Amino acid sequence: MGDESRSKCRAVCFISGNGTNLQAIIDNINDKALQIDLISVISDNPKAKGLDRAEKEGINTKIIDDSSFQNRKDFDECFEKEMIALNPDLIILAGYMKILSRSFCLRFTGRILNIHPSLLPKYKGLNTHQRVIDDQEELHGASVHFVTPELDDGPVIIQYQFNIENHDDRHSLQEKVQRGEYIIYSKAIQWFSEDRLSFESEKLCLDGAPLSEPRIIKKS
Ligand code: GRF
Repeated sequence: MGDESRSKCRAVCFISGNGTNLQAIIDNINDKALQIDLISVISDNPKAKGLDRAEKEGINTKIIDDSSFQNRKDFDECFEKEMIALNPDLIILAGYMKILSRSFCLRFTGRILNIHPSLLPKYKGLNTHQRVIDDQEELHGASVHFVTPELDDGPVIIQYQFNIENHDDRHSLQEKVQRGEYIIYSKAIQWFSEDRLSFESEKLCLDGAPLSEPRIIKKS
């Protein structure tokens, strides 16, 4: 998809909150560092700040709020139908806090990316920064991975790493992690958009070769 004659990767971004990763992606698109067509931003949270960020850029937004559904199953089905109709090349999870249904993950395998604030496979789930401090870790960072039905478990493509300093607390760690997220997420998305990155038949490949270890970017 990188070459001009081919159509751009049609991407959808799912958010739930602030949307600073979304903003970084939008900024990179505007700066032409990222060649994707961001066709829609979808939030499960009507108050997500990321919705304002998208609207400011004239990007189509949609709220799919689970409180307006009878049960989780109806919500999941609606979500899946929406995506089947849109049929994006790529689904970018950027601080999306709902767990996607198994059916959704399987239908779109190889087309969903997530960014997670830890060096996966360590610290899946929530409160990663505090858990890292409690465990007196020396290294911390962020990971971009393909999404599979098991939470935060899909193959890791790229990581941003830095050394934890004595004075760090969960707030400073969050800030440092997010700064790295903005770099690695756009990198992985661009690789995908250029058909350099794939996850098919359980194989993660970059530039035509299996990627057995994630690419690492260290804080300079
Ligand atoms: C990020 O730190 C990301 O790793 C996690 O949720 C956070 C979202 O932040 N999945 P933002 O909404 O992009 O500012």
